[in-house]
Amino acid sequence: MQLTCRALLYILSMVAVMSLFEWKENFSVKISRFDEAHKKLIELMNEIYAIIKMRKDNATIVSVVEELSEYSKTHFNDEVEQMIKFQYPYLKEHKEEHNQFIKELDNMKEMIQRQSNLLNVQLLNFIKDWLINHIMKSDMKYGQFFLDRGLK
Ligand code: FEO
Repeated sequence: MQLTCRALLYILSMVAVMSLFEWKENFSVKISRFDEAHKKLIELMNEIYAIIKMRKDNATIVSVVEELSEYSKTHFNDEVEQMIKFQYPYLKEHKEEHNQFIKELDNMKEMIQRQSNLLNVQLLNFIKDWLINHIMKSDMKYGQFFLDRGLK
């Protein structure tokens, strides 16, 4: 069986217990598709963490940051679609948080591309803090709202 470099990195990260943090039950927003998306975002963050710990080159870091950015956009669009559909009252603020995250992630990606290794810790802290805050505060707020409207 042949493993791709990315698959190997992922396995190594799991074996070496190189997780920055793991999704736990108290992260659940009660809507399964959004919980699954959040798990994937955390998995990608842990992959970036593992790559940095293994001192991989910046191009490898940037490729996973790009993947995180793309996956985030897909997930954010999914949330926003449901918010529009059910006329969620905090849509505007929520969208603004999403946009800020993508913008900051893109800025950091560009700086890392210019060989700023010093930014690695800053990048991880930013992703971790943003995900925890956003999921636990802003996303958590819509859980009951969507549940009451039949979303699962
Ligand atoms: Fe799950 Fe608002 O991002």
